Formats: sequence, structure tokens, C-alpha cells
Amino acid sequence: MAFTIAIDGPAAAGKGTLSKAVAAHFAYAHLDTGLLYRAVGRRMLDGVDPLEAATSLLAEDLDADDLRTPDVAQAASRVAVIPEVRAALVDFQRAFARRDGGAVLDGRDIGTVICPDAEAKLFVTASAEVRAERRFRELLDRGLETTFETVLADVRERDARDMDRVAAPLLPAEDAVQIDTSGMSIDDAVAAAIAAVTEKGATQA
Ligand code: CDP
Ligand code: CDP
Repeated sequence: MAFTIAIDGPAAAGKGTLSKAVAAHFAYAHLDTGLLYRAVGRRMLDGVDPLEAATSLLAEDLDADDLRTPDVAQAASRVAVIPEVRAALVDFQRAFARRDGGAVLDGRDIGTVICPDAEAKLFVTASAEVRAERRFRELLDRGLETTFETVLADVRERDARDMDRVAAPLLPAEDAVQIDTSGMSIDDAVAAAIAAVTEKGATQA
């Protein structure tokens, strides 16, 4: 059985949190596709050509802690505008999506480009201020020195670059269920996501 759940949305909307919870609930596999772009961005910062980095990504490149930094996030959004980089990452994502047992993929273009036939699509949003506040707290908790204003500027800059690019811009699929998590607790957002996906026919793997 293959059942694909696509979860898209802007930076720090709660995609990862909801994806992990939904994947755990249904016992599906989860792929954070942002990590692919972050890994390519990380290698670009090291001086590697982004296309070469995208065509030679290894599984061990994907779980490094140093991918979750603001510098790498910015680099990710810069390599993500390059159509050839995006194209090099398509097959891996589609193969993951159709694996037996069900899959949750989160990113920017899962419901629109990577898996237009996904059985369930969510588009998760929250105001830029709420998202920046959440990401700011997260970075502080991890001991990274920053300010709310810096994080808000980063979120806004990446949102604009992600929405304005020609290749696979950030936008909700026509058939996506939209969840605005601005005023929601994590538990409420998770419950809303599981309800929406159940409505689309997902069952435990
Ligand atoms: O994956 P994405 O960048 O969209 O967001 P995330 O990493 O899931 O969430 C960013 C931060 O917001 C995390 O620290 C979450 O715990 C928090 N969050 C929240 O406070 N309320 C929600 N409804 C969802 C996430
Ligand atoms: O967690 P957060 O939402 O802040 O970032 P992320 O999901 O790790 O994505 C980092 C950057 O990768 C985004 O700003 C996008 O430019 C890019 N990205 C993309 O273009 N397509 C995807 N499917 C996932 C990420």
C-alpha cells in the first residue's frame, strides 16, 4: 500500500512538527525535504558547485545537526531557485513518496510538483511574526545567539524568495487543506492535521 501525505508551507509554520506527529500516528515514513536543500546549501557554503552537490547527495549528508542554522537555511533558499538543482532531487523524493507502507513528505512543492497525485495534501501557515517567534525560541533553546528581528527578517526574505521563484514556487495546491496554526497549540494543530488526513482516507500502515 502506498499512501502519500504532502505537507507544504512557509518557513517555521510547523510542517516538521505536524509531519512527524502524522507519520507517527499512521506509522508512515517521513522525509523532511528541506534537509535536501539545506544539505546542498551547506556544501555550496563550503565552495562546492550546487548542481554537483545535488547530484551527489548522500544519506549521511542529511541528518547533520549543522543543517539547522540560519546561514544554511539562507543558502538552501538560494540553491532552491536553481531549476537544475530541483530537478536533480525529484527522483529521490518521488521514490520515497511511493514506498510501501505510506509516506509523509514536507517542504514547499510536494503537493504541487513532487507529488501532485498525493492522496492527502496540507498547506500549513501562520503569520510571519508567529513563525519568527517560534523559530527564535527554538534557536535560543539550542544556544544560538540571535534576535527576534534577525529571525523575522530571515523568515520574510526566504518566504519572498520561495514564493517569487519561477521553478516550483511556494503556493498551496488547489486541493490542499489549509491549516493556519497562528493561534493553535501544537496539540490542536496535530489533531487538525490528523483529522484532515483521516478524512482523505489514510489508515494505519
Ligand atoms: O518545519 P517547519 O519549519 O515548518 O516548522 P517546525 O520546525 O515544525 O516548527 C517550528 C517551531 O514552532 C518548533 O519549535 C515547534 O515546536 C513550534 N510550533 C509551535 O509552537 N506551534 C505549532 N502549532 C507548531 C510548531
Ligand atoms: O524549516 P524551514 O521551513 O525554515 O526550512 P526548510 O523546510 O528546511 O527549507 C529550507 C529552504 O529550502 C526553504 O526556504 C526553501 O527555499 C527550500 N525548500 C524548497 O525549495 N523546496 C522544498 N521542498 C523544501 C525546501
